Amino acid sequence: MDLFSEIENPEREELRALRKELEEANYKYYVLNMPTLSDREFDEKMHRLQELEALYPDMFDPKSPTQHVGSDLVESRKTKDKSGKTFETVKHKYPMLSLANSYSREEIEDWVRKLPSDVEIVCELKYDGLSISLWYENGQLVRALTRGDGQQGDDVIANIKTIPSIPWQVAGAPAHFEMRGEVLLPWERFEALNKEREEQEEPLFANPRNAASGTLKLQDPREVARRGLEAYLYYMLGENLPAKTHYDRLMSAKQWGFHISDAIKVCKNVDEVMEYIAYWDTERKNLPVATDGIVLKVNNLAQQEELGYTAKTPRWAIAYKFPAERQLTLLKEITYQVGRTGVITPVANLEPVQLSGTIVQRATLHNEDFIRQLDIRPGDRVWVEKGGEIIPKITGKEESTPNPSLKEREDYSFPTHCPECGAELVRVEGEAAWRCPNESGCPPQIKGKIEHFVSRKAMNIDGLGEETIDLLYKQGLLKNIADIYSLRTEDIAAQERLGEKSAQNILAGIEASKQVPWSRVLFALGIRMVGETTAKKIARVFNSIDTLQWATHDELCAIEDVGPQIADNIIAYFNDIRNLEILERLREAGLQLALSEEEKNSQSISNALQGLSIVISGTFEHHSRDEYKGMIEAHGGKNVGSVSKKTSFILAGENMGPEKRKKAEELGIPLKAEEEFLEMIQ
Ligand code: IVH
Repeated sequence: MDLFSEIENPEREELRALRKELEEANYKYYVLNMPTLSDREFDEKMHRLQELEALYPDMFDPKSPTQHVGSDLVESRKTKDKSGKTFETVKHKYPMLSLANSYSREEIEDWVRKLPSDVEIVCELKYDGLSISLWYENGQLVRALTRGDGQQGDDVIANIKTIPSIPWQVAGAPAHFEMRGEVLLPWERFEALNKEREEQEEPLFANPRNAASGTLKLQDPREVARRGLEAYLYYMLGENLPAKTHYDRLMSAKQWGFHISDAIKVCKNVDEVMEYIAYWDTERKNLPVATDGIVLKVNNLAQQEELGYTAKTPRWAIAYKFPAERQLTLLKEITYQVGRTGVITPVANLEPVQLSGTIVQRATLHNEDFIRQLDIRPGDRVWVEKGGEIIPKITGKEESTPNPSLKEREDYSFPTHCPECGAELVRVEGEAAWRCPNESGCPPQIKGKIEHFVSRKAMNIDGLGEETIDLLYKQGLLKNIADIYSLRTEDIAAQERLGEKSAQNILAGIEASKQVPWSRVLFALGIRMVGETTAKKIARVFNSIDTLQWATHDELCAIEDVGPQIADNIIAYFNDIRNLEILERLREAGLQLALSEEEKNSQSISNALQGLSIVISGTFEHHSRDEYKGMIEAHGGKNVGSVSKKTSFILAGENMGPEKRKKAEELGIPLKAEEEFLEMIQ
């Protein structure tokens, strides 16, 4: 092949372009946690590249994305935190491969039929998180490596140790072995985390996988613990391990205390495999974690060895990927939504389309940059997807359907003024969002601030929902948060669908909110970027509104988690006379605008154990049981008396009660020794 014909050949050009595109997509997915292609697009492009490489073997390149797995290794310049810490990169004992995959059930059937006829196939769920490799030496967990580039990974053991279902030590297991599995952020945790990030105006995670990946690369294990990761293990490796089949190995692992999925099934023929796929295709929607397919593995380890490996994948396994839930539909119009903090979100108004059980007519277009990058305009046919998120999103447009000629397509420009109040929009440098600056005069911002103020984690005023706020706002009874404390029973009872009874309930809630502690009042004020945790930290240093009001920029920046931007926002808040008037009225109403004696003495030091239910059993060397109880609560955990499937772990001392031990074994609840526990809370 001479040089000239090579340049001429469009397929060769395509091959090169695909390599470049997939390399970039890998980087964005694994390192930046900001996927640009949907899984399906990625897989389709990868298959096309494989096809082209088979056609042009002279273009073989060991560095091609078809020959290696994407890398999640964080270059040290990116991971270094303020203290300069970073993760240690360690070579894998066995390379961490990926799996061949297919979206076609026919291909899966073919794959099974081509195997020797006596073969047993283990079917498992394909968990959609990130893979982890755990090394155990003499019963102790000594390393926890990310997949990295498949050859070497980052050791994230401190973060992994915060996952309650991962044992730090195991009894009865071989001296050296490796367990592999998937780290996940359960749906519930993912949604709570995103909600919190939204409140704190931090960028949202696109899906639980990205959230889990971002979490595992944090430098603060306490924050990792607070987020509540989970893990499922699905692969054991090592020399001279006991069992002869994959299934038996997993069952032994289960006995040693590893979290192994109950959904694993040994299938004897292709029909059983297809039945498993059909069952989980719908049933997976009820699981607490994300799955994106089914993994089929040859059960017998000797047969696995015979089948062997390609450069990137084992030949003894394959993944069936569930079809992505997406639809192509017409983009009729783009409208704009104004959030509590004034952020303008472009919304796609669609020709209604059926998507995983519901009809979708609206989807987010994220921000102006997204629209420009994809060159999306009304009249285009766009892909709408319901990932993990509650809100459907546009993921791309159909290039192949002929668009009206460029001239006929509507010119697109992002609005310059707020669609709700008409104020001129501003865009803060470095941010993707446009914002309406008219904080106290823009209706959705006013209502949003009131909704935030009454929300559960803030003042927790039950019964005052979005609709009621809207009604009261329209009647001029509720124009800011201070107006809440001037509401009368008859104002509320006069509203449609609200009677005397609900009015009294709401008023009781308003009354009770006067006891809400200072740190939560501070959070409730809705100062930009002052989230729940930051508010707590600020309230501890500035223990009343009067001292906070006069805080200088430097003093504020000295507080953990408070940067120059947050300091600016706090100062701006107190410089606005309207806010001072509101605060005065809140003071008159009797809200807690200073740290109470009780709060001053409270020991709540961290959130390291947030969301965890912990049982204490046995006697201890370093502290008394009561002290441990206090520590659990001080770090945000809950001390419970009896073991149930909701128990996160047991803080186990000497002579642990036999009943509790038995129950823990039955339910697979891990035990933690007091040293482990103390390390967890540092
Ligand atoms: S087995 C050599 N089993 O899928 C085979 N992988 O696309 C090792 N995954 O990197 C993998 N659930 O992160 C296996 N039940 C399961 C899985 C699973 C999810 C992930 C894993 C792997 C990726 C391959």
